[in-house]
Amino acid sequence: MAKKNDPIGIFDSGVGGLTVAHAMHSLLPNEQMIYYGDTVHLPYGDKSRETIISYSVGITDFLLQQGCKVILIACNSASSNAWEKVREHVGGRAMVVNVIDPVVEQVCEDRNLIRSVGVIGTKATIDSGTYARRIAECASHIHVSSMATPLFVPMIEEGFVFDDISNAIIRSYLSRKEMEEIDTLILGCTHYPIIRNQISRFFNFEVNVLDTAQIVAKKLQEMLQHQDLLATARSGPDRFYVSDHTPSFGAIAGMFFNEPIRLEKQNIWAR
Ligand code: DGL
Repeated sequence: MAKKNDPIGIFDSGVGGLTVAHAMHSLLPNEQMIYYGDTVHLPYGDKSRETIISYSVGITDFLLQQGCKVILIACNSASSNAWEKVREHVGGRAMVVNVIDPVVEQVCEDRNLIRSVGVIGTKATIDSGTYARRIAECASHIHVSSMATPLFVPMIEEGFVFDDISNAIIRSYLSRKEMEEIDTLILGCTHYPIIRNQISRFFNFEVNVLDTAQIVAKKLQEMLQHQDLLATARSGPDRFYVSDHTPSFGAIAGMFFNEPIRLEKQNIWAR
């Protein structure tokens, strides 16, 4: 039985999921968080569905061993390919939350204001068709146009943001015809909130670029409230584990979390 002050487990292929972790941390400061970034295996965005499922289930087991009341799949590539399998695997042991459903719910709530949605993400996320399928289930009149933008992840990790190189790459992707008519854009990847303002500027602020990390954190808060599982007090410090550690992961983690944090190496695959 999950208890209110049990930690929330969050996982991603690497450190990008820290954007979601930070949004959650700001909104729910009482919650203890155990983050796991699978830096041994990143990127997930180029992997097959089977491979993403097997990594996701392995990390979920680790987070369950830590006594987590929630497993939050912060990675879009894992949310779109492995959520059902992770949920089946977990059964009643914890609540399983992905980063796609909260955003789809938001789009569906605003359905009267939206005509055409763009979705950008990794190849694994876009090829799964998950966003388009879920939006069609609740708002079939909304046109969904999806496009993989795989260069954005290495670009952001290498620090190319708010400069000429990133402006050129953003322009090159987002001026394609798939994105021509959109009024709303879903940032379907952990890394993209970092360039959200730059993307808004590319569209002259005429496209509503959804702040996906914030939407997910808000939805998680509602779910915890609903299940009477909001923490009443912190049960311990946040932990940030990675399966492999290099100085560069340490340096970029701070950019994604927006505060300095200490990564701890915990290679669950070496056991
Ligand atoms: N975290 C991944 C996602 O949100 C992006 C990085 C990767 O490809 O592993 O899809």
